[in-house]
Amino acid sequence: MKNYVLISNIIKKFNKTINVQGDKSISIRWALMASQAVGKSRAYNLLKSEDVESALNALKKLGVKVKKYKKYCEIEGSGLNGFSFKDKTMVDAGNSGTLARLVLGLLVKSKKSVIIKGDKSLSKRDFSRVIKPLNIFGAVIKSNQNKLPITLNGTKYLRPIYFEEKRGSAQVKSCIMLASLNAPGITKIKCINSRDHTERFFKYLNLPIKVKKISQRQKLIEIEGKNQYKSFNYNVPGDISSAAFFIVLTALSKNSKITIKNVNVNNTRTGMLDILKKMNVNIKFKNYKLINNEPVADICVKSSKNLKAIKCHEDINSRAIDEFPLIFLVCAKAKGTSSFKKIGELRHKESDRLKVCSIFLRKIGIKVHEKSDSLKIYGNPNLSLKKNYIINNFMKDHRIFMMSCVAALSLGGKWKINDKKSIKTSFPNFIFILKKLGAKII
Ligand code: S3P
Repeated sequence: MKNYVLISNIIKKFNKTINVQGDKSISIRWALMASQAVGKSRAYNLLKSEDVESALNALKKLGVKVKKYKKYCEIEGSGLNGFSFKDKTMVDAGNSGTLARLVLGLLVKSKKSVIIKGDKSLSKRDFSRVIKPLNIFGAVIKSNQNKLPITLNGTKYLRPIYFEEKRGSAQVKSCIMLASLNAPGITKIKCINSRDHTERFFKYLNLPIKVKKISQRQKLIEIEGKNQYKSFNYNVPGDISSAAFFIVLTALSKNSKITIKNVNVNNTRTGMLDILKKMNVNIKFKNYKLINNEPVADICVKSSKNLKAIKCHEDINSRAIDEFPLIFLVCAKAKGTSSFKKIGELRHKESDRLKVCSIFLRKIGIKVHEKSDSLKIYGNPNLSLKKNYIINNFMKDHRIFMMSCVAALSLGGKWKINDKKSIKTSFPNFIFILKKLGAKII
């Protein structure tokens, strides 16, 4: 199968209702949490993608029974630290930073050593952020200069810790939370706000967790460890980070409307919606409800005229962290200069997204000013593309591939976008849905 798409037509106006696949962060967390429960847990609408597949395979390697049925996935856990595996077991996290960082947390008490490896992109990413707290718990970790592969030896003398998480990273916070499950006593994490799915899972499972707001940006999480929990069933909501591509496609297209059903609209994930609303995009929620302690709604979006630039406040960054490539694309078509501060974390994603997006925007004729930690975008409301554009494989970054497709379908020009296979990471039916909306993609 060829690994690129060709797009040379703007999408015609559409008015459709769609569903996006299950949330990636929640799917991986469900699998990890179910692996530590006592008994058989089921997840419906679990994302079927390579990152989640890596999580299920990792658990199988660690001795957990995983069964996939047409309608649900079943995991049979043996309780906390119930893994059973041979010394020097190798776990391949593939492209998934969430899996690699979170599973380390679950292994802090294991008697046997585990080696975690990843693909080329994941092997370039920083792990010192989780190695530090795991060392304080007592785990012994060897790494390749704070990168994968990592060998972890758990400790018999696991102790609860106090840790200050200063990046607003949900992966770091969740790694510590998962490690705290096995620690006797109370683990305390003072953290900058970030997606709170793990906290919600703990509350849903009635685990002893206290969350206190310290300031507008910070909270204190206290978890008492050593509490077994029973297996549980779970419905995974649609992924807002996948819905985001269709939200932006609709906003940038003419006379179009879309409803995206059953999307997770957890406030810690909806930063992009707040930013786009300020930029004049018409976005509304319908059928808002709480399912398994996660807020879910249908998101309705209409085409937008008169997009205006945004001065983005840094407090919103972690709530929009995976959507910045798309937000930058909207800024390219907005009137005025948009600015983003303290977004250096974007350099540590599947690719250096700050650099890659700057290259992308310049390629389509947009002036940008990129600094180590900030970006200015000089928008052009009359942006209409006519040239040929080739988008390379940027470390197989799925979100860059999908954002490029949205640009091609809404701005014009003739495009060859490489690395179609990258969508398998998070959103395998992305192209299928685009075609359902009427997109011409070869
Ligand atoms: C994720 C957290 C974010 C996000 C990633 C998924 C998670 O990373 O970018 O795609 O599931 O916890 P950081 O925690 O490193 O910011």
